[in-house]
Amino acid sequence: TLVIEENNAGFCRVDGSIDSNNMGFTGSGFANTDNQVGTGVEWAINVSTAGTYSFEWRFSNGSAAARPGALTVDGALVASVSFPTTGSWSSWAASETSTTWLSQGYHFVRLEATANAGLANIDSLSI
Ligand code: GCU
Ligand code: CA
Repeated sequence: TLVIEENNAGFCRVDGSIDSNNMGFTGSGFANTDNQVGTGVEWAINVSTAGTYSFEWRFSNGSAAARPGALTVDGALVASVSFPTTGSWSSWAASETSTTWLSQGYHFVRLEATANAGLANIDSLSI
């Protein structure tokens, strides 16, 4: 499993900030998208062997409602992902997994908020 953190080479950017105010994150912080529809977190990945891969995020959602998002790879929609409440912003959980086939080589992964509240806070992506 490849775990991509905000301080790894595979992490690209967030439409928001890298924060460290809510405890329990791994690495040096977590990605906090601005609370707007269309904000996202992006990763560049290098797939050494073509195959079917699962995507799973470590996240927290201290709000009362689930935060939905869309996973795209190279601009194509792969799956919708819902991030349920975890009770507090410092309680972290593993997301549902999304599975897709990836060819060998570089791919551009984006997780984008599909509702006005933005995404859950995203600690890492495991593939
Ligand atoms: C709080 C929390 C942030 C979170 C935000 C949100 O401000 O500290 O980390 O991103 O809520 O509602 O998205
Ligand atoms: Ca936010």
